Amino acid sequence: MTARQEIEAYLENQAGLETLRFITCGSVDDGKSTLIGRMLYEAQMILDDQLSELERTSSKIGTQGEEIDFALLVDGLSAEREQGITIDVAYRYFATDQRKFIVADTPGHEQYTRNMVTGASTADAAVILVDARKGILEQTRRHSFIASILGIRHIVLAVNKMDLVDFDQAVFDDIVTDYTELCERFAFATVTPIPVSALAGDNVVARSVNTPWYHGPTLLGFLGAVDTRKALVDHGFRMPVQWVNRPNLDFRGYAGTIVAGKVAPGDEIRILPSGETATVNSIVLGDTELGAAEADQAVTLTLDRDVDISRGDVLVAAREPCETSDQFEAKLVWMAKDSGFHGRTYLMKTGTATVNATISEIRHTFNINTFEEMMGRSLELNDISVVKLALDRPVAFETYADCPPMGAFVLIDRQTRQTVGAGMIDFALRRADNVHRQAVTVNKKARARLNGHPGRVLWFTGLSGSGKSTVANALERKLHAKGFRTYILDGDNVRLGLNRDLGFTDADRVENIRRIAEVAKLMVDAGLIVMTAFISPFRAERQMAREMFEEGEFVEIFVDTPLEVAEERDPKGLYRKARRGELPNFTGIDSPYEAPERPEFRLETQGGSAEKLARSLLEELNLEIND
Ligand code: ADX
Repeated sequence: MTARQEIEAYLENQAGLETLRFITCGSVDDGKSTLIGRMLYEAQMILDDQLSELERTSSKIGTQGEEIDFALLVDGLSAEREQGITIDVAYRYFATDQRKFIVADTPGHEQYTRNMVTGASTADAAVILVDARKGILEQTRRHSFIASILGIRHIVLAVNKMDLVDFDQAVFDDIVTDYTELCERFAFATVTPIPVSALAGDNVVARSVNTPWYHGPTLLGFLGAVDTRKALVDHGFRMPVQWVNRPNLDFRGYAGTIVAGKVAPGDEIRILPSGETATVNSIVLGDTELGAAEADQAVTLTLDRDVDISRGDVLVAAREPCETSDQFEAKLVWMAKDSGFHGRTYLMKTGTATVNATISEIRHTFNINTFEEMMGRSLELNDISVVKLALDRPVAFETYADCPPMGAFVLIDRQTRQTVGAGMIDFALRRADNVHRQAVTVNKKARARLNGHPGRVLWFTGLSGSGKSTVANALERKLHAKGFRTYILDGDNVRLGLNRDLGFTDADRVENIRRIAEVAKLMVDAGLIVMTAFISPFRAERQMAREMFEEGEFVEIFVDTPLEVAEERDPKGLYRKARRGELPNFTGIDSPYEAPERPEFRLETQGGSAEKLARSLLEELNLEIND
């Protein structure tokens, strides 16, 4: 067995114990590795073979003479990480009689935020280390700030290296005063300062004789006793439905993990977002029926009546329901190398629900060193930002502060399916409640009848100089002559008016296309045949545009002119400028164009004239006017 397997086997045996997850923050200089090593060692979880290995290397290269160098233990484990066996965050497991512990060790500097987020997203507590000789530093502020943003409720301020300041109470008290002041701006549930020496072991596991003036808990004592679960169990019942279990016609159960509260047969529950109610008949776990169940248990519930419930719905206590909304303000940590953009749509997973969510606003990004709020239109790797999200349908939620499992979410790229962000809901936007779609009597259908044809959007995409505007123009002339109501939205023209504020960064192009799609939607609603001629270089936005329309209304036309040809034509001299380096972010030169994979039409402009292409398009579009 490998060490990892042994640890896992051991953990299995301890399955009955409650688990505390915590992260440690601090640099190696603060003694973080030593502290973790000391805890692992003293909790007697260092496996024998690791220990003897450690004793050998310690005497060879350790810095602590005959003593065991605990930092080596942790650094040794990080070598395993470097071999690619584990990911950025190393989880270490240990246990006492009361509890199991999972400590997420978040190394690195550059990657710090992301690692800390990954480790902290499920952490109950954070141990923030400071060096007694140095006190509160910039990075202490940063770590505390990130911990607060991530919603970690319990903070231990481990004032380390107390042996190097002669266990002087005044030194400790000064640091505590400074830290208390810093914490006034954060909403931690508890802040517990502890004077320790990771190296000598003072107040880590055993109470130190060197700090008779200290009456608080030891580090492990605190971690063993801090109450993290009570709040969730005392909360209103919440169970996101994972799947509907219907093995035969006589049984219909709703399976999922209870994320908060308790439930028992006879309890009245509400199904969100629909709002319907029902009563719990039974709670099933495998072959047994339970008298009750609570947070963290995975169960199947049966109800007293047939209600429409599907994956993603949340069953909540009828008398203590939570809210539903489709617009939120949230904190978002960006975890992808590719930037995130205002106006782009992502998949949002919250609980068991998956919905489309558009970043409708990037309010600001925190400078985690100064806490300053910076403005911007894009999200970069490791950014922690406040954003607004607009969903395509309402979901049941709670704020992250009230109930972390109901307020946490991830954003997923719709093309690559990779997780790009992790977020925490701060609140729902009330503006959603106060804006209602107004019913109008003359509707799309009526307008189409009067026009004699329904609206359409013919979405031309392709490089600059590919011929989008020329073909669209020729097509409009033909449609117009036949009596169709038409309009052309053209890149250059719209950029002189509505989109005058936008340039050519990726972020601005995303917003450019979002607005164009919205305008085109209004025009289609008005019954027009709209031709849009924009480079529209990104698949994500073209996909978003497509999804805004009804089946058949959106027609994507890829004007497939190779870069060399467009560059050769260079009607506006822009390629030449770009090649000279005078026009940055030029599509095809130093800004990407993502060609459509399945456009309705693909035009090759080298073969025929714009006239000819427009003629064949007109034919194939098969549009008719009814009198
Ligand atoms: S898009 O990428 O946001 O869809 P859009 O179609 O609106 O672009 O505008 C493209 C037109 O703007 C080009 O045809 C060209 O005339 C002009 N232009 C100016 N700068 C750039 C640039 N950096 N990249 C591409 N086009 C540019």
